[in-house]
Amino acid sequence: MHNTPIELAPSLLAADFSAFGDAARRCLAAGCTWLHIDVMDGHFVPNLTFGPPLVKALRSREVDAVLDVHLMVSEPEKWIQPFRDAGADALTIHAEATIHLHRVLQQIRATGALCGVAINPATPISVLEHVGDLLDIVLVMTVNPGFGGQKFIGAVAEKVSLLADWREENQFRFRISVDGGVDASNVRSLVTDGASILVAGSSIFGHEDGIEGGVNALLKSLES
Ligand code: DX5
Ligand code: ZN
Repeated sequence: MHNTPIELAPSLLAADFSAFGDAARRCLAAGCTWLHIDVMDGHFVPNLTFGPPLVKALRSREVDAVLDVHLMVSEPEKWIQPFRDAGADALTIHAEATIHLHRVLQQIRATGALCGVAINPATPISVLEHVGDLLDIVLVMTVNPGFGGQKFIGAVAEKVSLLADWREENQFRFRISVDGGVDASNVRSLVTDGASILVAGSSIFGHEDGIEGGVNALLKSLES
């Protein structure tokens, strides 16, 4: 997968909530291609964030990015169509959030969105064993979902290379995304191991040189 383009996906959870449009435009101008939108329901995770209206607002401003919606919600099947209708390009549900994973993945595929599944730090990649051919994205959580700004859990990063090997053996097409504590110190090894979508919140929006400084620091680490 060496020719796979690397996508930086800033997590808007870490942006200034009073200025999402501005944050989105600055990310894209700095070289990002995806925008990551963390949907939390106060049930699957202990926090509450955005609904379809935010996706709709970004889409209607003609933000030219892949809108990557990460659904950290119980009963994800209820939210697939509303987020797709709002303009989501990629929909990622949690494997732990449904007992009917295959069915919900089929539901996502039927909408035409990119079909993603996320796995929590404690969840083994084996839960995906029988759904590999349905997936466009596997999102490896490198923190426990619910909050930005947490410390990267290095021990779970090995799932990236395990997934890359499994993909190769089976000729699957999914891309590997990493989410949580992603910063300039770890992006390079994550990409070397097989990740090609890098979700980053605090390391972009909390950078001392602003959004542009955060994006540049990540891009520079990838080059070196
Ligand atoms: C955590 C979210 C992440 C989060 C990442 O539940 O899924 O997308 O915003 O934020 P950082 O990069 O600050 O860990
Ligand atoms: Zn996320």
